[in-house]
Amino acid sequence: MPPADFLSSQPQSIQSSEVRSLADGCGWLAEPKAVDAMTQRRFLVTGALPYSNGRSHVGHIAGAYLPADTYARYLRATGADVRFVCGSDDNGVAALKTAREQDRSVEELTSHYNRCWEKDFKGLGIEFDIWGGTHQPDYVAVHEEFSQDFFLKIFAKGLFTKRTTKQLYDTQADQFLPDRFVKGTCPHCGSSDAFGDQCEDCGRSVDQLELIKPVSMLTHSTPELRETVHWYLRLDQLQERLSSWLGQKKDTQACGAAWRAIVLNQSLGRIEAEGLPERAMTRDLHWGVPVPLDDPDAKGKSLYVWFDAPIGYVSFTASMFKQRGDSNDEYERWWKDPDCKIVHFIGEDNIVFHAITWPAMLMATHESESVQGKRGEYQLPHNVVSNSFLNIKFPGKEEEKISKSRGTAVWIEDYLKTFDPDPLRYYLTAIAPENVRTTFDVDDFIRRNNGELLNAFGNFFNRTMTFAHKYFEGKVPPTDRRDEVDKKQLDSCCEAAARTAEELEGCHFKTALAEVMSLARAGNAYFDTTKPFMTRKTDMTACGRAINVCLQTARTLTTIVAPFLPFTADKCAAMLKLDEGYRTWASACDELPAGHSLGDPVILVRKLDPKELFGD
Ligand code: 2FM
Ligand code: ZN
Repeated sequence: MPPADFLSSQPQSIQSSEVRSLADGCGWLAEPKAVDAMTQRRFLVTGALPYSNGRSHVGHIAGAYLPADTYARYLRATGADVRFVCGSDDNGVAALKTAREQDRSVEELTSHYNRCWEKDFKGLGIEFDIWGGTHQPDYVAVHEEFSQDFFLKIFAKGLFTKRTTKQLYDTQADQFLPDRFVKGTCPHCGSSDAFGDQCEDCGRSVDQLELIKPVSMLTHSTPELRETVHWYLRLDQLQERLSSWLGQKKDTQACGAAWRAIVLNQSLGRIEAEGLPERAMTRDLHWGVPVPLDDPDAKGKSLYVWFDAPIGYVSFTASMFKQRGDSNDEYERWWKDPDCKIVHFIGEDNIVFHAITWPAMLMATHESESVQGKRGEYQLPHNVVSNSFLNIKFPGKEEEKISKSRGTAVWIEDYLKTFDPDPLRYYLTAIAPENVRTTFDVDDFIRRNNGELLNAFGNFFNRTMTFAHKYFEGKVPPTDRRDEVDKKQLDSCCEAAARTAEELEGCHFKTALAEVMSLARAGNAYFDTTKPFMTRKTDMTACGRAINVCLQTARTLTTIVAPFLPFTADKCAAMLKLDEGYRTWASACDELPAGHSLGDPVILVRKLDPKELFGD
């Protein structure tokens, strides 16, 4: 990889103001112009906060983080002001349970996995503006302040009910048992292995009080029933507002972004099927954000992890500005101004929390009962983009679900030991589970890398660059004129850039990538049709004309592939000697002037062998 500022010191690099745009004839992109602060689009993009009790695998990346990163990169390329926020979800029972199993402190565990995720994201080119953690030393104080403030605002609005309930208590460990800390016989299917929240054998939800013969996972003793007090969010009171707000999301015209069917079906479907009962937002746990009430019943209790986790999006935004020395209120420009669009990227299992609970929490802080908050109040998400799950298929085995406990996953850390990040970025976007579950098939990954990315994209650059160096002294050859075939190819460049942009605006990443690849294939077809390998012997002018058009195509591809494959795009830019402005979408159809010197050709895409991933 060239260093980040790889071309800034090279005088021959092209500045975007000096070039003629191929788009002049296409009319889809205005000339690049200075971005006007009044009209500049602003987006706050978030990736679901991963639990810091395990490592990242391909399912996580395909589900939320890769599309989010691609989207943030694309938006920046269009000149939008973007903040991309993420961090680890450290609180709650999941981390406590793993820490116990691994015999380490929960602080040490969550700090370890916080760093693992950060490293994996970096390795894949997933670049956040802030990577926080709800219980990490540099973030926990601000996070607690925001979480407690949310709780108190909602409390003051009368939207919590204090209730006494019964819960299982381990007298030997002297504590109430969170759902995952109790096992027993499933009341639905009779499996003896059901947890206090779900039976993994029959898949049905279970209430810990329904478990037959419950056993504490802490001491293996039989727990007893004890009374406890919790605060329940009045989702029932917010149901009408939520339904009406979600209802608008079916209509692109009304909301400015069409929400995916999977998100609307799950959220509206849940409301229609069950209504919205009150939900407990506190837990009998010491690990988390303390319940901020001056009430003896609140002692020793924490906020429910799904209450504080989404607040992490806000608290990390605030920490980000604080770290830079900005004013304390700067986060409000991103969270409380309707001009800023908030877009959450999540996996399927997070839909209900992001499309119902989180918007309900935000609404509950609003002054009035109007659906949307006023300027100066927390804004509701502009879009919640969710993918479905990803299955996995190893060579010679059946397709199966990704499972941490069964070890059926491709871990990012392992992948990055052998492979470059872009082949995975390519494959995970090409097979993205945007509407339905799809499969990471190891053989297919290799096949598509070698058959698509290398054959279509890599080869096109390779043959074009090799030709330009061998027969045109590493410079863009001049063109005396352009015939219809040339013009058609140049039009395809502009059209591909426009179509890719349109798909990316709608978060259709798979289709958008297909547009890029289709331009690479069109480039190869143009090369084959114009046959520079023949004309170089008979008509060097025609040969130069063809290579010129191929280089213009390569120029467009460099910009439009960048949100998907940033490492590859940097190599393309180095080969074409473009400055960093190449990422600007409006430059996609800038014409490389004749005589422009090119960089050295490099291998863009490596041929992969399945043995590299899994041995013989
Ligand atoms: O499913 C998960 O991995 C959760 N930790 C996601 C939380 S997203 C948000 F609310 F923070
Ligand atoms: Zn069951």
